[in-house]
Amino acid sequence: MNIVLLGGPGAGKGTQSDKLVDAFGFCHISTGDILRGAVKAGTELGKKAKGYMDAGDLVPDDLIIDMMKERFQQPDTAEGVILDGFPRTTVQAVALDSLLAELERPLDAALLIDVDPEVIVARLTSRRMCRECGYIGNVSDGDTCPKCAGEMYQRDDDNEDTVRNRLDVYAKSTAPLIDYYRGSDLLVTVNGCQEPDKVFADIKELLGL
Ligand code: AP5
Ligand code: MG
Repeated sequence: MNIVLLGGPGAGKGTQSDKLVDAFGFCHISTGDILRGAVKAGTELGKKAKGYMDAGDLVPDDLIIDMMKERFQQPDTAEGVILDGFPRTTVQAVALDSLLAELERPLDAALLIDVDPEVIVARLTSRRMCRECGYIGNVSDGDTCPKCAGEMYQRDDDNEDTVRNRLDVYAKSTAPLIDYYRGSDLLVTVNGCQEPDKVFADIKELLGL
């Protein structure tokens, strides 16, 4: 199954991807995670991406599309992928369509996790993540990861000003993809303002899993 996860910053794309991976073993590709890894490793891509990410702006399409073409060369993508944070512009969506057509791997669904932007600022300014295992939690977890005892940290782009810019960028550049996928009859929508387990139950039902 090839699935695009749509939804604004903090909608719960990472949280629900982790649940899908745990339950079904899907290959999860998060462009944000790949980019943060590149920044940490100090690669050319990371150096080019850092300024955009810290400001909450989108990294240029050509860098992202090249990065994803490379990622799709890896064998773990063959059985199906969950794309978290890609595509994020119409240019990226068109590039994904051509890439999947070339690979003869059709897209099964574009799943929109729908969340009121008003709840996002509080969610993201209180998010904390584990440096070791990537667990997504929040400030109530304290300094130690409940899963692996690694160190919990706050993402550089989870401050209020940057979160507000990310919301604006989502509305302007990414929200148009909702109509893009509705037009090709692939759009399914889940209410992301419920408890994470309820969101997951609804996702399984919507995707027939
Ligand atoms: P990225 O890492 O993709 O960030 P994002 O889209 O802003 O989304 P987040 O990861 O912040 O949120 P999420 O939806 O995964 O929510 P989560 O599950 O963590 O991108 C970062 C940056 O990289 C971009 O700004 C851009 O610069 C660049 N970039 C990435 N992809 C790009 C692309 N394709 N093109 C160009 N640039 C790109 O949950 C958030 C919090 O809420 C957590 O604390 C969680 O515990 C909590 N939570 C989750 N679900 C619920 C729930 N149901 N109820 C209550 N709390 C919940
Ligand atoms: Mg995420």
